[in-house]
Amino acid sequence: MKGVTLINFGLVFLYVISGNAIEQAPPLGKRSFTIDYENDCFLKDGETFRYISGSIHYFRVLPSEWRDRLRKLRMAGFNAVQTYVEWASHEPEPDAYNFEGMLDVEEFIRIAQEEDLLVILRLGPYIDAERDMGGLPYWLLRKNKDMRLRTSDPTFLKEVDDWFVNVMFPKVEPLLYANGGPVIMMQVENEYGSYPSCDYAYTAHLRSLYRKAFGDSVLLFTTDGDGVGYLKCGKIQDVFSTIDFGTGVNLEKAFGSQRLFQPRGPLVNSEYYPGWLDHWGEPHSTVDAKKVAQFLDDMLSLNASVNMYMFHGGTSFGFGAGSNLGSKFLVCPTSYDYDAPLSEAGDPTEKYWMLRNVTQKYLPLPPGDVPPPSPKYSYGKVQMTVLGSVLQLATVLQSVNATWPLTFEELSVSSGLVLYETIIPFRTPDPARLTISDIHDRGYVFVDQHYVGVVSREASLFDLPLQSLPNQTLSVLVESQGRVCFGPNINDFKGLTTRPTLEDRELKNWRMTPIPVTHTKRLSSALSNLRKKLEEQPLVHAELRGTPQGGMSFYRGSFVIPDEVDHPQDTFLKLNGWRKGIVWVNGFNLGRYWPEVGPQLTLYVPRGILKNGTNSVLVLEQEVSPCALPSNCFVTLQDKHEIAGPTPFSN
Ligand SMILES: *[C@@H]1O[C@H](CO)[C@@H](O)[C@H](O)[C@H]1NC(C)=O
Ligand SMILES: *[C@@H]1O[C@H](CO)[C@@H](O)[C@H](O)[C@H]1NC(C)=O
Ligand SMILES: *[C@@H]1O[C@H](CO)[C@@H](O)[C@H](O)[C@H]1NC(C)=O
Repeated sequence: MKGVTLINFGLVFLYVISGNAIEQAPPLGKRSFTIDYENDCFLKDGETFRYISGSIHYFRVLPSEWRDRLRKLRMAGFNAVQTYVEWASHEPEPDAYNFEGMLDVEEFIRIAQEEDLLVILRLGPYIDAERDMGGLPYWLLRKNKDMRLRTSDPTFLKEVDDWFVNVMFPKVEPLLYANGGPVIMMQVENEYGSYPSCDYAYTAHLRSLYRKAFGDSVLLFTTDGDGVGYLKCGKIQDVFSTIDFGTGVNLEKAFGSQRLFQPRGPLVNSEYYPGWLDHWGEPHSTVDAKKVAQFLDDMLSLNASVNMYMFHGGTSFGFGAGSNLGSKFLVCPTSYDYDAPLSEAGDPTEKYWMLRNVTQKYLPLPPGDVPPPSPKYSYGKVQMTVLGSVLQLATVLQSVNATWPLTFEELSVSSGLVLYETIIPFRTPDPARLTISDIHDRGYVFVDQHYVGVVSREASLFDLPLQSLPNQTLSVLVESQGRVCFGPNINDFKGLTTRPTLEDRELKNWRMTPIPVTHTKRLSSALSNLRKKLEEQPLVHAELRGTPQGGMSFYRGSFVIPDEVDHPQDTFLKLNGWRKGIVWVNGFNLGRYWPEVGPQLTLYVPRGILKNGTNSVLVLEQEVSPCALPSNCFVTLQDKHEIAGPTPFSN
């Protein structure tokens, strides 16, 4: 078979401005993106074509910076951008859609086209990407707790069909290359060969959804690891197979495995890794820039098309970051810098310039200059004061009672924190053993509001000795650290997922209070209700009822940005003396901090969330604040990012 045929729309198309030159774009009906299987290459409008593409996830970059990042990609000699589409962000609750602001994926694609880039789209539905649940909506597990995700389970397919056919496909259609847009290719599923289900009926179903919607007007592809074992289950009949790998592998062998399943057509590495992901507690990952550049050169000299994952990693703001579960439970940090050619804050690195030297050997560099790095600014110390503890806040929130603990999913809580409480009904030895086996993921235990300690999935520590009397209240504040994003365990329920026991006796009759940290508006109204309640009794540190060192409490502060045209600027938040928590600036959830375990020590504060005049900071510190001494109670906005700090507890 040679190429795929195109629907002829018979329309005449425009002129496209590309750099300084005006070139004539082909008429709409002649726009085609296909494969020449005889000559092992892509064909764009009938001409031999190859892409050098880079991954940028719109949902990890503020929209005000999209054009800057995309232009920097183009100016590095790349001619395409690849992005995932994250279902969970766009449909946070069933039939409640969000395509605004940072989630305006159509606008991102249009800007890419204006910046003279083609677009490679990966709709999933599963995307991994080190995102909570690999980008699948958590509520799937509420609809059916036994749902077999990423299979032909009809309850899963029904949700995927709704999302694709009724919502996402109509948005994509006008953006396809054949229809005048920049989208040349779409990926079906994502590294499906790495998922144990190996359900061919599922991937065939996805293929037919695409074909029904788009006919042959868009090129479909799959991506899998560079080994026969992956491609075996990842290959879909009549869908173009590509592979992914980083530096250091044997190129002939790697592309050899693509060839086993895709004997003809272009060689394609769909995820070439210039760096790698991080986990809390493990040293920051880096890959040598020279090796990255040399290996790209090697691949391009074979006429391969390459997508670099990531070209610009950006930030997993809010609760976006996921976790990995292998022999250990490992949690992804907020920064998704990835040691990519553009840093987390969007600045060209040495790797960027080295790669640009390679790409220009193969593709013409567009005219013009690389945009300069954005200026960074030290806004300095921000004095913080305590607002109240989470346990106090829970008294003004709604709760749910049940005999056995409900999961976050059953409580309709996507992420964050839930307070679980029960009355201890019997006498216990001194001390008694509390067991919360397989806590998901970190549980702070209190008896009558006094802190006892923590149980942890990361540390596989599920037992705690405690002293208790009958009728005392046992409270467990459970934190979701992000759902598993890869492998067989992505159905990762959060909260108390088993029945806690005290001296081997099951504890019943639980009361559950979701802490509204996922909803900024609900959180601030709950906090102001708490302030009203506390007004009579001015707060002193000892009465916080959090941890003894001021943890599990909210703190707030503000800082002023000068009213000058070159402000606000990008800045980085450092939390010296703080232990572990969540931080918001102007109501925008920047993500989690945990400098104690590293490697990330500062949080990127993009200028797009700042304003001239007064800006607010809200911190939820879970463990230890420096605020016993008010003069130590501050956070700092500095002009340097620190993402490669020490990791004293790594193995
Ligand atoms: C790359 O493509 C060019 C032009 O089609 C061809 O002459 C050359 O032999 C190809 N190189 C390899 C390594 O396939
Ligand atoms: C890129 O190539 C130019 C010209 O050969 C060279 O001067 C420069 O040092 C190279 N840049 C990097 C970062 O390797
Ligand atoms: C839940 O149980 C507690 C006692 O544990 C009780 O005070 C509260 O009223 C109950 N709430 C609801 C909503 O039933």
